[in-house]
Parts: sequence; structure tokens; C-alpha cells
Amino acid sequence: MMKLAPSILSADFSNLGEDIKTIDKYGADVIHIDVMDGMFVPNISFGVPIMKSIRKFTEKTFDVHLMIEDPARYVEDFVKAGADIITVHYEADRHIDRTIQYIKSLGCKAAIALNPGTPVSVIKDLIPNLDMVLIMSVNPGFGGQKYIDYCSDKIKEVKKLSEKCNPNLLIEVDGGVNKDNIKNVVDCGANVIVAGSAVFKNGEVEKNIKDLREAL
Ligand code: DX5
Ligand code: ZN
Repeated sequence: MMKLAPSILSADFSNLGEDIKTIDKYGADVIHIDVMDGMFVPNISFGVPIMKSIRKFTEKTFDVHLMIEDPARYVEDFVKAGADIITVHYEADRHIDRTIQYIKSLGCKAAIALNPGTPVSVIKDLIPNLDMVLIMSVNPGFGGQKYIDYCSDKIKEVKKLSEKCNPNLLIEVDGGVNKDNIKNVVDCGANVIVAGSAVFKNGEVEKNIKDLREAL
């Protein structure tokens, strides 16, 4: 079963609580929260205080995508602020295995994200210990970019590895997913689909979510 994870990066930040209630109401399965530090990616979004303040608007899973350097520094703060899954980038952490163990030791689910240019092979040995792998299908930093086609092969590669050594692994795809390509992404093996601009465009959340589901 595919889980839909709207990214609040494309929401109206002056009205974040309302936007979260709206995506909750119209069938978001997971809330995808993009944290950017202006170092790992060339953009700054928001941090722990904002996340803490939106936690009260929904009971849904908070999927926290940390696009920050040396993410272990902030893991505990995000767990305390209500994260259910924390994703760290392979490229941002010299001790990725330690960080994964640390996240899990705090009772939180743990995931690794790979930039488009990073091969799946680097996380092969870690897959048995992960709750989720996030395949970035755009270079992280901004919403509204175009899906990079070769990432479809990377999703298939993760799917194969998961069948071998972690059948419960969640496989998330993030970036440029819309109603025209969502079916391909799911057919490749993804089961958690992030969508920012495709969910919030024209302020028609209900219709947009319906279109995405119907495209499958
Ligand atoms: C990009 C973020 C994404 C972004 C996706 O760096 O990680 O979650 O919000 O936005 P769309 O769906 O518009 O590509
Ligand atoms: Zn993201």
C-alpha cells in the first residue's frame, strides 16, 4: 500500500496549522517535514520550534527529513519535538551507522536519504537495520523541481535489496513527483511518496490529493 506524504515545504508558512489540518483531513498518510540548514543545501527552511508548534495539529506520522550537516547534533531535539521517523543524509554524516543506532536508541524510526548522485551501493550493509530509505529524485534544497529520470533505477535497486534482507523496509521517494509520474515511481517499488508542489498547487489540496491517488 502506497503512503502519501505531503511536504509542508510548499505550504503557506503564515498559515501552517491550517494547512496541516487540511492535508490531514484530505488523506495525507504521513506529514513530510523538510529541515534545511543553508549549508548542506543552499536554502534555509525551519527548525525545532516550528515543528514543536505544529505537532498539536495532527496525530499523523511526522517524517522529518534533515537536510543538515552532521545531523546527529539535532536528533534528540527533533525526537523530543515529536518526530516519528528521522531521515539523515548519507552525504552529511561521517558516522552514519552510529547515527542510525542513536536515532533508534531514542525510540524513533531511522532512515537514510541518498542524493541523486550517490549510488545505492553505499548503504547496502545498512539496509537490514533501517526502517526506511529515501531516494532523492531531485537535488535537495527546493520544491518544484523536475524529477530526475535515472532515479527510477535506484528505487528498483533498493526494492531488490529490501526483498533480500529487509522486506518491511519503507522506500520513500522525494522530489518532482506528480500525477503524471507517480504510477511509475510506485511501480518501481516506492511505498512512501513525498509530494510538495503537486499537493499544494493552486490551493486545491483536496483535488490534488485525489488526482494523485487516482493516477495509480
Ligand atoms: C526538496 C525537499 C522535498 C520538496 C519536494 O529538497 O526534500 O521534500 O519539498 O517538493 P516537490 O514535490 O515540489 O518536488
Ligand atoms: Zn524532503
